Amino acid sequence: MTKLQVKSANLAGVKADALVVFLFEDEKAPKDIDSKLGGYLSAIIKKRKFIPKKLAVRQVDTLGKLPADTVILVGLGKKADFTVETMRRAAAKAALSARAARSESLALSISGLATKNIPADELAQSAAEGILLSLYKFDEYKKKPEENGGELRSVVFACGAEKNDVADGLEVAENICKGVYLARNLGNHPGNTATPTYIAATALRECRKVGVKCRVLEKRDLERLGMGSFLAVAKGSSEPPKFIIMEYLNGAKRDKPIVLVGKGLTFDSGGISIKPSANMEEMKFDMSGGGAVIGAMVSAASLKLKKNIVGLVPCTENMPGGRAVKPGDVARSMTGVTVEIINTDAEGRLILADALGYAKRYKPRAVVDLATLTGACMVALGTHASGLMGNDQKLIDAVRTAGEKTGERCWQLPLWDDYDDAIKSQVADVKNVGDRYGGAITAAAFLKKFTDYPWAHLDIAGTAYGAKPGSPYLTAGSAGIGVRLLIGFLRNY
Ligand code: BES
Ligand code: MN
Ligand code: ZN
Repeated sequence: MTKLQVKSANLAGVKADALVVFLFEDEKAPKDIDSKLGGYLSAIIKKRKFIPKKLAVRQVDTLGKLPADTVILVGLGKKADFTVETMRRAAAKAALSARAARSESLALSISGLATKNIPADELAQSAAEGILLSLYKFDEYKKKPEENGGELRSVVFACGAEKNDVADGLEVAENICKGVYLARNLGNHPGNTATPTYIAATALRECRKVGVKCRVLEKRDLERLGMGSFLAVAKGSSEPPKFIIMEYLNGAKRDKPIVLVGKGLTFDSGGISIKPSANMEEMKFDMSGGGAVIGAMVSAASLKLKKNIVGLVPCTENMPGGRAVKPGDVARSMTGVTVEIINTDAEGRLILADALGYAKRYKPRAVVDLATLTGACMVALGTHASGLMGNDQKLIDAVRTAGEKTGERCWQLPLWDDYDDAIKSQVADVKNVGDRYGGAITAAAFLKKFTDYPWAHLDIAGTAYGAKPGSPYLTAGSAGIGVRLLIGFLRNY
């Protein structure tokens, strides 16, 4: 991970390969840097050769007139519209631009950008997140890693009076991005590497490093617990299922925990209701909810949050095979609710049903689940927001607020009782699919049957993977979505 440092210094005087100058529209170039460059910055701004529109970038060669080789101008747009998300994206643009120019060190400053609503520590945190997340690379399977410029090794934040706040913000960002990197790695590994066994081993190892208690339930344990819904999905696969339990209890003894649940489907072929082959390879990302929960547990512990937090990740493949669950089969979940499995491709809700049922034993204050659950959610919201539903409006609001702050936005869909009709079964208590309409909602209506506590559900099918052109810190592949959202939520809930 690129090293972040704070320095009491003027940006113009910092020795680095590249300097970043952030500019609002209609803002003048900083005097010291501009005058050292013979007024070149103000000249190109005046001639409108560089217009500091939001996320506009231009590199200016210093021709030896500054210790840095390059000045990177980055537009912030209109001052009145400035948000932490703009900061995140602008810093990401700067980092990518520096890397492309083979700069190994970068210096920037957020002096003067903080406002009443956006304090310096949050601003520094956002800038650092943008930098670290944009520079993430996954090339473990390449003989020769792809060339995307050099290696940006260090970033200096040149500070004035805000130095301590900036240092705090950077530390928070580093601890959060550690969890995001972990979640991205778990998602990006192909299904033949990131099996349930691999994910469980990784969770055990990473949890041990940061003081999270982690244990893994095996198939026989799941049988004893009566997790027939989870086990039904695992039946078709030769990979043994794992149920990962992570406990980080650093709050008051009497405080009931917040439980995070993540879908850990390491490959979703659809099972007997097999998927079409186009884009099926993307179903290695079907464990993204689980990856987010593991990443968030590691980040929460690294940040030493004073909270009681539990993470639950049911892990399995969904495969067709001689022993696979069949359409029409009935499974008995841990809570006793029986499920008629109409479509074996609606497997995420089956494994979550038993994880949500297991969560009851914690008498949780709140449960938040994350799952790449439905294509229907992508149809409804596209790829810029996760679907948000639940049974407790206060909890839903808290998650949504965290989404606005972290840039991992969520949009609420209704979950009225009326939707329950769609999943009534002739033979069992409930069936695992509704009709064609409102698929994201009927999936949530199914999950609701297994909850008896304040609960929020995030459908991350559209947000979990795939680069988005407008968001420079979302690299190709796994987005590690949910880690930043969950930490934002946990810090304030
Ligand atoms: N993992 C998929 C959902 C998904 C689809 C995630 C596309 C990311 C991208 C899930 O298990 C699934 O197959 N859902 C079905 C449900 C249907 C059978 C009711 C779907 O969305 O088609
Ligand atoms: Mn499926
Ligand atoms: Zn799935």
